[in-house]
Amino acid sequence: MGDPSEVGSGRAWEDQRSIYDALRTESAVSHDDDTWIVLRHAEVASAATDPRTFSSKVTTRRAIPNSLDGAEHASFRAVVDRYLTGERVDREESQCRKHAAAIVDALPRGVTVKTIASIGIPYAVRTQSSWLGWPPELEDELVGWIQDNHAATRSGNRHTMSAVAERFDHMIRALLEKRQGQAVTCDVTSELLGDSVDGRPLTTEEIVSILRNWTAGDLGSLATSVGVIVHFLASTPEIQREVRALVEVGDHAALSAAAEEILRIDDPFVSNRRVATRPVSLGGEDIPGGCPVVLNWTAANRDPLVFGDPDRYDPAGNADANLVFGVGPHVCPGRALTLMELRVIIEELLIRTTWIEPAADRPAVRETPPVGGWACVPVVLR
Ligand code: HEM
Repeated sequence: MGDPSEVGSGRAWEDQRSIYDALRTESAVSHDDDTWIVLRHAEVASAATDPRTFSSKVTTRRAIPNSLDGAEHASFRAVVDRYLTGERVDREESQCRKHAAAIVDALPRGVTVKTIASIGIPYAVRTQSSWLGWPPELEDELVGWIQDNHAATRSGNRHTMSAVAERFDHMIRALLEKRQGQAVTCDVTSELLGDSVDGRPLTTEEIVSILRNWTAGDLGSLATSVGVIVHFLASTPEIQREVRALVEVGDHAALSAAAEEILRIDDPFVSNRRVATRPVSLGGEDIPGGCPVVLNWTAANRDPLVFGDPDRYDPAGNADANLVFGVGPHVCPGRALTLMELRVIIEELLIRTTWIEPAADRPAVRETPPVGGWACVPVVLR
């Protein structure tokens, strides 16, 4: 994304949202070397819903379904969607609640707690592992992997990133090999091992790729989202009171909408890549064919042309334009699962505490771009 100190008047990347806000005021699409960064809501939505012009095949590495286009994408997307239906998500809720309650109960009261390390990461790893039927012994390895993956992303070093990705594949392969020699168990991973696409069995390669895309990016996103939401509730007491009232009356839909709106204001899932398949004009810029394009969800989710004051919390009013989970054929298939998981952790946190406040002794620290959200959210639970 270029040198951030060159943007505006040398502001630091303390909060990358302010940099994107400034860039978006200047132009809908910004140009950095040969990469085009799409910042405004209308242009991001238009590119995301035009996969013929903005292809997801951004690397030679095949990521299922993320890097696929057209009919091939539709076939694999149908496989993925089968595992993330509303009915399946409902079935996961009691397990998630068990994990959330155990995590919150184990936290000390009246002293500083690090939200992401002590709540977000263990919750993400345990809920995903139960959903996939992965053994609890894998927890430490997965936690270590999330941290290394974040560090690799921050470093921007392609070799480090690909080494970390390789390590994840290795972990999944070892797990699948163990499964293949065992009696069939009834969980998502076993089901995937016996699943098919377009009438033929999925290959091991494809299964590893599907599992990687369910977990690799998303474990981190869930943990980071918990950090963003807890930071928001701790630092805006009037909204914490409002959300506590929703928990009390058990308004699930309003709680999910609250989580999605908080993530819109401070979207930690910053961007996805595309490549222009032909010369195209977008937001007044001429993008040459073959050029890399970045869809910046964080910037689009704060576009005043759509949301007015981007920091104004209005779950009902802003829901229709919310782009936290993307739009178009690649729209996140994990949205319902994520919103259930976030609602459950919010519920258990608020039921099991009387108040959450920012820690007086340690300020929250922003993540290092391109990773979004917060690196550390110290809070005190009452
Ligand atoms: C806070 C959590 C999450 C956020 C913010 C998020 C956001 C997104 C976004 C913006 C996209 C669109 C990507 C694009 O257009 O290129 C996406 C795609 C995707 N997400 Fe999520 N996601 C989250 C959690 C999850 C979870 C828990 C799962 C799986 C269990 C998941 C699986 C996927 C997959 C497989 C795709 C690719 C879909 C396709 O290419 O058709 N996500 N996600």
